[in-house]
Amino acid sequence: MKHHPIFQNAIIWQRELINRTVVAPMSRVSATADGLVTDEMKDYYSAFAIGGFGVIITEGIYTDVYGSQSYNNQPALVNQAQSTSWEKVTRAVHESPTLIFAQLMHAGALSQYSENTLAPSALKPIGTKMCSYGGQGAFPTPKEMDLTDIERMKQGFINGAVNAYKAGFDGVEIHGANGYLLDQFLTPELNHRNDQYGGTMQNRFRVIAEIIAGIKASVPQSFIVGLRVSEGKVNDLTYRWKHGIETAKELAEEIKVSKPDFVHVAVQTGQWERDSFFGDGISLASVIRQATGIPVIANGGFHNLEKAEVALKDNHATLVAIGKAALADPHWVMKTMNGLPLISFHREMLWPEATLSHTRKIV
Ligand SMILES: Cc1cc2nc3c(=O)[nH]c(=O)nc-3n(C[C@H](O)[C@H](O)[C@H](O)COP(=O)(O)O)c2cc1C
Repeated sequence: MKHHPIFQNAIIWQRELINRTVVAPMSRVSATADGLVTDEMKDYYSAFAIGGFGVIITEGIYTDVYGSQSYNNQPALVNQAQSTSWEKVTRAVHESPTLIFAQLMHAGALSQYSENTLAPSALKPIGTKMCSYGGQGAFPTPKEMDLTDIERMKQGFINGAVNAYKAGFDGVEIHGANGYLLDQFLTPELNHRNDQYGGTMQNRFRVIAEIIAGIKASVPQSFIVGLRVSEGKVNDLTYRWKHGIETAKELAEEIKVSKPDFVHVAVQTGQWERDSFFGDGISLASVIRQATGIPVIANGGFHNLEKAEVALKDNHATLVAIGKAALADPHWVMKTMNGLPLISFHREMLWPEATLSHTRKIV
């Protein structure tokens, strides 16, 4: 198994990666009530590094106090104390040759935490909140963001990235996927704005482009700034764009202009072939990879090694991100390379709560 393409080293972002495996971002709602990182979280993240992953992307971290927070006990990067609390994680991870990126996230209309939500348009989300993340019942109708709200939200992402840099992260991933705020801007059915942030793809992408530019102007060039995108949403898992590949190409053009250092294409269902292809062997990942030439991380069931081989060999992606299989067994890379038995994922690990202490009791 050592010769599988995902276990081959690579030089990407002028950094030496020990292999092409990435831990996918996974919210674990195990921080303190005021968004500080705990020792339990340090042990959780460092286990992935000891277990041989090339890159770790953290759970979604909130970036401002005006509506970005998704969950109770979600970690933050809003203030100095929160930034400092991440240092123990980055230091522990860097004892191994593994990179760690902070995922910066704004919940928008899909907060499990707040009843006063913000979104590009005042549209009540479909579906219900997730009780394993402390949510209950229907989502409220969000307030349509005005330009002051948008400015504050952008500054939150920029400030979050600066705090991530100070905390010793190698980079950040801007969460533009899964139906959260930035994906709400991107999605025509959720964005009915008539100003510069609504309408064409260029307008719907504008807020992300401004966040990328703002972050890049505020951190050293070596700090890696990526973007996560998806079609599916947590409250509408199999959502697809109405105009399919045309929308994918338009998105790829905007990404090319805004020049993130990587794009991470998420498929939350884990059904990459079913939920991320447009036919003729063309995936959202391959459209972006071909249009932009920048590194692409593919995600969605890539603990399946045959599928991972296709993703890399057929040039859909440069790296693959693994979620639930890594959660179940943080030593997944080292064990898979050496043909050792794995702990496999089962739903009870996250049920009735998605916390680290609950999973520890189950495993
Ligand atoms: C417990 C859990 C928490 C998650 N939290 C996040 C998150 O904070 N940010 C995000 O972008 N995706 C999140 N996801 C989605 C995963 O990153 C990934 O897209 C999904 O698990 C599919 O990958 P897999 O098939 O390898 O599990 C989460 C998934 C799980 C299982």
